[in-house]
Amino acid sequence: MAIRKIARMGHPILGQRTAPVQAPDAPEVRRLIADMIETLADAGGIGLAAPQVHESLRLMIYRVPAVRNAGQEVPLTVLINPDITPLDEGRAHDWESCLSLPGLTGSVPRHRAVAVTALDLDGAPMAFEARDFHARVLQHEGDHLDGILYPQRLDDPGQFGFVEEIRQTLARQGTGS
Ligand code: NI
Repeated sequence: MAIRKIARMGHPILGQRTAPVQAPDAPEVRRLIADMIETLADAGGIGLAAPQVHESLRLMIYRVPAVRNAGQEVPLTVLINPDITPLDEGRAHDWESCLSLPGLTGSVPRHRAVAVTALDLDGAPMAFEARDFHARVLQHEGDHLDGILYPQRLDDPGQFGFVEEIRQTLARQGTGS
């Protein structure tokens, strides 16, 4: 396993639509997934999509801590060739950050619930539904697979900036945590 370099916003690979993984159990795919897991653990993020480590493939990993998911941890999940479909019309705003935009955060509108189909590590089909922050993570990582970064989803470009500044602003407004 190896920690891979994370592409930052501005690198063209982050703007490309990715290609499906042809053979989920191929050794190079297994190696990539192992490296992504190690890279995510090292970087301390919630999720990582393959283009963020310079591989233009439909593959993502994530883990949702209990504190962000009503006390229920979502363990490390690997999704190969995921298809993510909104289950509601509306959008909710929350602050997101991304390992490809270190130090920055933005308030991004996302659907509250999504349905997911994908292949697991062994290439077996899986399907589930997710809500709230879990659904947000899936939409954020799914966007990476379509070459979209969260600043492109902002409906108020003013709600975007450095985490340190925004945390202080929210604390002054009494709405931050
Ligand atoms: Ni991201």
